[in-house]
Amino acid sequence: MNTLRVNLKQIVDNSYDIKIGKDLFEDFISGLKENPIAYSYVIVTDSNVRKLYGEKLKSLIDGIAEKTLLIDFPAGEMQKTREIKTEIEDKMLEAGFGRDSALIALGGGVVGDIAGYVAATYTRGIPYIQVPTTLVACVDSSIGGKTAVDTPHGKNLIGSFYQPEAVIIDINTLTTLGPEEIREGLAEIIKYGIIADYELFELIEQKSDDIFNYNIELLSLIVEKCCRIKGDVVENDERESNLRKILNFGHTIGHAIENHSNYTLTHGNSISIGMVLEGRIAVNLGILSAEDLERARLVFIAAGLPVEIPFDIDPEKLISSMKIDKKSRAGVIEMSLPEAIGKIYSIDGKYSLKIDDETIREVF
Ligand SMILES: NC(=O)c1ccc[n+]([C@@H]2O[C@H](COP(=O)([O-])OP(=O)(O)OC[C@H]3O[C@@H](n4cnc5c(N)ncnc54)[C@H](O)[C@@H]3O)[C@@H](O)[C@H]2O)c1
Ligand SMILES: [Zn+2]
Repeated sequence: MNTLRVNLKQIVDNSYDIKIGKDLFEDFISGLKENPIAYSYVIVTDSNVRKLYGEKLKSLIDGIAEKTLLIDFPAGEMQKTREIKTEIEDKMLEAGFGRDSALIALGGGVVGDIAGYVAATYTRGIPYIQVPTTLVACVDSSIGGKTAVDTPHGKNLIGSFYQPEAVIIDINTLTTLGPEEIREGLAEIIKYGIIADYELFELIEQKSDDIFNYNIELLSLIVEKCCRIKGDVVENDERESNLRKILNFGHTIGHAIENHSNYTLTHGNSISIGMVLEGRIAVNLGILSAEDLERARLVFIAAGLPVEIPFDIDPEKLISSMKIDKKSRAGVIEMSLPEAIGKIYSIDGKYSLKIDDETIREVF
């Protein structure tokens, strides 16, 4: 037998900038003109964002690129499917886009996730830029390179890690969001405050009304703080082997609730309840003080987020769905819990704790 070795040790640099500002589209395009990342550009967006910002962005890119294409699909999580991914790819192939193209994901997390995954696989990978337009996308989904589509078996089950070339956050785009979408983002923002940034938490505690009034300066500050936290976490643990798990606070129970509501309860609402219940577990385990949990609970309430499961559900059903979640290991439920507002708990350098069923049962 002959053995030939293919050496593929890689040193990769996937670094990228996150730009945050007001009226950034013009700057973004002139930057792209100076430092093009492709000859032709495809903007992927959804039906709502196309009307609000898609046409405008396309006309700007028309001025600097050989070829541009604007593709949209109907808005909503229901469209984050393999079928829509195929449709986008077919439109790009029919229009003759090749390896010298780049993709621009303009929209919320649904657009970012699906467009990022198209970029990851189109002709085995083309560059892409995230232009997030929801609060969730600005503070969470556009950073970190997780791309995916949903399947009938579950959310985000097919996808890849694929980092963008840049993230361009134009805060002005947030002014067309409704309060529900602001609230969705706020749930993740409060999470960042609890797990990593006391000042951020205090800011939300004192100024949540200003956020709902689209105070641009405040939104910029908050988005920047969140991007810093997520960026730092991803820098240290891109593949979620340890530190990145802190971002899952509230998500173990939250996902189970979201799932059992048949997705009638939004992600933000579900993780708000999840954070309160997981916080209660932290209190029961002697990790977090009851005062800190109460303070967090009041912030969720002030933001109009729920803190209790609004329907009857057998806790055993929630526990079994937590066990089949991507985050659990061999049927053991794991959680990342805060030890104080602004600080996540760790033991022996590990941020994820194994939680037994009885401890979970107690909080329902
Ligand atoms: N990749 C990740 O790390 C990650 C992290 C968090 C969430 N996600 C994913 O993100 C998705 C949720 O993202 P989302 O909350 O942004 O939802 P979304 O993309 O569905 O956007 C919510 C709604 O807002 C509309 N919209 C977008 N921008 C707008 C604007 N500026 N003005 C008015 N309306 C606007 C959209 O058309 C849509 O109807 C989920 O699929 C989730 O799995 C991914
Ligand atoms: Zn989340």
